[in-house]
Amino acid sequence: MKAFLIDRYGKNQGRLAEVPDPEPGIHDVLIKVHASSVNLLDSKISKGEFKLILPYTFPLIMGNDVAGVVVRVGSGVRSFKPGDEVYARPPDARIGGFAELIAIEESALALKPKNTSMEQAAALPLVALTAWQVLVETARLKKGQKVFIQAGSGGVGSIAIQLAKHLGAFVATTTSTPNVEWVKALGADVVIDYTQQNFETVLRDYDVVLNSLGPAELETSLRILKPGGQLISISGPPTAEFAREQKLSWGLGWIMRLLSSGIRRKARRQGVDYGFVFMRASGAQLQKITALVESGAITPVINRTFPFEATAEALSYVERGRAKGKVVIKII
Ligand SMILES: NC(=O)c1ccc[n+]([C@@H]2O[C@H](COP(=O)([O-])OP(=O)(O)OC[C@H]3O[C@@H](n4cnc5c(N)ncnc54)[C@H](OP(=O)(O)O)[C@@H]3O)[C@@H](O)[C@H]2O)c1
Repeated sequence: MKAFLIDRYGKNQGRLAEVPDPEPGIHDVLIKVHASSVNLLDSKISKGEFKLILPYTFPLIMGNDVAGVVVRVGSGVRSFKPGDEVYARPPDARIGGFAELIAIEESALALKPKNTSMEQAAALPLVALTAWQVLVETARLKKGQKVFIQAGSGGVGSIAIQLAKHLGAFVATTTSTPNVEWVKALGADVVIDYTQQNFETVLRDYDVVLNSLGPAELETSLRILKPGGQLISISGPPTAEFAREQKLSWGLGWIMRLLSSGIRRKARRQGVDYGFVFMRASGAQLQKITALVESGAITPVINRTFPFEATAEALSYVERGRAKGKVVIKII
């Protein structure tokens, strides 16, 4: 099969190559991939930024999202059969969505929403699971609460806004001038043009912040939260709890405790909780997202679609940081 892979860590290492087809294990489903989508995680993995916590071997097939059709299932698979249209965020240890075939354990899979194309479905798993794990699982966001979602025009932001509105929250977000109206149409109640205004001058007494930007925005976010509020970051710094969940070494746990000590201290002083979320694969949660897409509560947002041969170009486009929703790779 054809796959987009890297042979070592570094910038712009990816190449399309012919590799052996994957063999599904007992609990695996073999999927003919129709579409995948790009995440900043792909570039971070390929540069080696995650090598301490995700120890990959080479050649490494890239790609953290998949939509396609089941071609074969392992003998222990109960919930899927050949011909099913499915989608997934493959587990961290077994990524490889930029390929014609992928074997994924059934626990990470869900049936694709019936009202989406393969390209739209591929735009969802990683970002929608991230939004779910931040807003539903961690924040337990409730009707009437106020949530600030940074970067509303990004892959995560554009889905998180829709999920937060579905949960009945009041949503504020940031974006640049050309995207303001577009982000309002996604459902945000307050849209701050970050090129004109600082969000801390506008927002007050928020219950939850989803931070996806840098250390400056993270610290500023503390000032808009009410006591008892939650600052949840997906862009770091990681915490010792995260190290424990990932079963990382004592030393890495200690480093993460140190890295997050400043923001945790400042959060404590304000009576706010700080947490770091590193999303994980979950077929069960993705099945709930399927229901939300089928009911019309969430609509996938595609910025651009690239052919498989242009995967490297798609990665560079996303790295530039201006994507408006998701960038999809059409494999078939
Ligand atoms: N921990 C996890 O599990 C997890 C999961 C998913 C993503 N992440 C991380 O979360 C971050 C966001 O991911 P993503 O996929 O949403 O990124 P993305 O789609 O590439 O984000 C691009 C968007 O960010 C906006 N943006 C850039 N600078 C901004 C600023 N200062 N204020 C407001 N908006 C700004 C851009 O809007 P303009 O063009 O208008 O500036 C653009 O629409 C990345 O660092 C990613 O690695 C972490």
